[in-house]
Amino acid sequence: MHKFENYIRDNKLSFETGLFEVLRIPSISADTSHISDMIRCAGWFVDRFERLGMRTELIQTQRHPLVYAETSAVPGNPVILIYGHYDVQPPDPIELWLSSPFEPTIRNGNVYARGATDDKGQFLTHLFAIESILKTSGSLPYQVKFIVEGEEEVGSESLDEFLHSETGKQKLACDCILISDTGMFAPDQPTITYGLRGIIAFELVLTGPNRDLHSGTFGGSVFNPAIALSKILGGMIDGNGKVQIPHFYDDVLPLTENEREQFASLSFDESEFFNAIGLNEGFGENGFSTNERRWVRPTFDINGITSGYQGDGSKTIIPSKASAKFTFRLVPNQSPERIIDNVKKYINSVVPAGIKYELVVQHGAAGMRLDLDKSRFVKHISNALENTFNRKPVFIREGGSIPIAANFNLVLGADVLLIGWGQDDDALHSPNEKFSLTSFHNGILASARFMNNIANNL
Ligand code: BES
Ligand code: ZN
Repeated sequence: MHKFENYIRDNKLSFETGLFEVLRIPSISADTSHISDMIRCAGWFVDRFERLGMRTELIQTQRHPLVYAETSAVPGNPVILIYGHYDVQPPDPIELWLSSPFEPTIRNGNVYARGATDDKGQFLTHLFAIESILKTSGSLPYQVKFIVEGEEEVGSESLDEFLHSETGKQKLACDCILISDTGMFAPDQPTITYGLRGIIAFELVLTGPNRDLHSGTFGGSVFNPAIALSKILGGMIDGNGKVQIPHFYDDVLPLTENEREQFASLSFDESEFFNAIGLNEGFGENGFSTNERRWVRPTFDINGITSGYQGDGSKTIIPSKASAKFTFRLVPNQSPERIIDNVKKYINSVVPAGIKYELVVQHGAAGMRLDLDKSRFVKHISNALENTFNRKPVFIREGGSIPIAANFNLVLGADVLLIGWGQDDDALHSPNEKFSLTSFHNGILASARFMNNIANNL
């Protein structure tokens, strides 16, 4: 048993206390009324890194601050960059939470709170792994850097700007980027995620008449913006989920037989997957399995629609405005810029006469894929995972996005390793988000073992 392993065994409570402290801070990046909580949350991390004796910086940005910390450089040895995000999604609908989203509560071995799995709990596994090594051996034979951002849930613009700046490139230079912001394929099944989808988010606002109108007096003689919106959105996708924007699929690479077989070999209970979300069956493009549809195919989704009267009873109006927020998930070879252009052209061609429109691009990021055969770190992480979970890891892709991941790889020229500790039923972005405390403690152990493997083998 290594000394750090004893430390991890003996400090479970203190790790949980740390996790609960940070979960109490409502660091909702999208909500401007939480700016002071964002600053408080960044400060919490600054304090933690400083307590470990790391050189730590709070980096101001246009929006939410970044936190950067590093151990001493060890020339000639690798540099590991660990990334996470301290921002969380808004907790609403709040009435569906069984316990308050910012008062972490343990039930059945899980901690329930907004940000528990996405991403505070997951990120902290690495901080506590490094704490365990530093506290028991005093130093590391290679350099570890941490970058924690507050805008992941809103597109990572400030971090992207920092990453492209000279200071940023220098500070973040590394050989490998470790991220825990994904899930495990099944409980206790260690998982290495080697691909993520990208994303582009839009908001479309349609305006018709200059005020809500009586639908009897005016109905039939003016274009109703809510109907225009329905037609435009409906036209963007066919009945099987195939996106109808011209050129949308131009750069989509076909799935290799190899990958197809590998996904098919994963033990996946389709009916259980759908039952857990209250459905009897799924939906999607013909010719693709559920996992292919959600991991390697690009998609269109509407995230929210607003127009007209939403109150009790009925109200006979033609609304003046109608708007929608929608996103496309992209696969690795698709360029967000090209898709944005295609979407702009498409919308412009289908908005009916008599309706004005405004189309805003909220954020965009490319997908990513790690070449598993080329990465020298994969075997070390696999070993650490196998030693901790007593099972070999599986290799999967995921449909979610970590906007900075593709650019980390591009700008820093380093491998992005995604090792998630989350579970399918963690309810990220939903009410009653949770994180398994077993995952949390195993994650700390696996991370520390990975760090230790590198120390002995590179
Ligand atoms: N942790 C998720 C990403 C994720 C989700 C990876 C599910 C794998 C499976 C991350 O915090 C997230 O939610 N990202 C957003 C990014 C967007 C708001 C720019 C996403 O995917 O919607
Ligand atoms: Zn998220």
